[in-house]
Amino acid sequence: MAAVKPRGILIAGNWKMQMGPTETSRFFSELAALNPAPTRGNIRASLFPPTISLSTAVMEARKLAQARGLKIAIGAQNAHWEKKGAFTGEVSGPMLQEVGATTVLVAHSERRQFFGETDETARKRAESLFQQGFEVVLCIGETRSEREAGKTEAVLEQQLTGGVPNACMTGPRRLVLAYEPVWAIGTGLTATPAEAETAHQFIRKWLWDRFGMESAAQTPVLYGGSVKPDNLESLLLCPNIDGALVGGASLDPADYAQMLKIAAQFL
Ligand code: PGA
Repeated sequence: MAAVKPRGILIAGNWKMQMGPTETSRFFSELAALNPAPTRGNIRASLFPPTISLSTAVMEARKLAQARGLKIAIGAQNAHWEKKGAFTGEVSGPMLQEVGATTVLVAHSERRQFFGETDETARKRAESLFQQGFEVVLCIGETRSEREAGKTEAVLEQQLTGGVPNACMTGPRRLVLAYEPVWAIGTGLTATPAEAETAHQFIRKWLWDRFGMESAAQTPVLYGGSVKPDNLESLLLCPNIDGALVGGASLDPADYAQMLKIAAQFL
């Protein structure tokens, strides 16, 4: 198989509003019991538990790294751009750093759909989190009606232009983009590898036009939307797909371990 993956592969699991601390511990025990392979080469793993489970996840991930050599970065599903203040219900970068989170999802489509996330708030979050040293996984993607109306590229362009801050391309490269067509999230409908690759090529070209060849070549672009062990390999065979942002299938330790194994075959 050995398709060349110049940017490595990132398998990121978004747990959404699932998995409290007890279930989080259980997930890691079950994962350890599956004897997962240690982290190798440029295959990376991350998980985004709910805020309440972050400390547990960080602790468990450290134990797993010690016991099995499998390193899983732990991240938050959202964070405010201010470092502190009167923002009831929000969480800040310094708080996330205190518990050991190193990566943050920004503007997941459910945040856009249900919680008023806009490209402007996405950009403010991303900018502030970059400055604080986090990796930012910025999510973009069109709805079904936008795709059917032939507006996929226009929507992606608007989300990229509005959401990606200039600051992300200075210093260490910490921007990850996640292309998640809204119609494929949690629906069992996956974009075909060809559909996904077309969107990823568009995103890569946008990065090139905006930031130049080197940044475009280095920025990982993940695909998300009903990814599971069954369809991961065909997606990873696409040259511009650098990993996956996985919802449902990342809740099952066996599926998550299997996806890491599939990714490792590309080493
Ligand atoms: P799904 O979710 O894999 O359950 O479709 C993906 C996501 O929302 O990130």
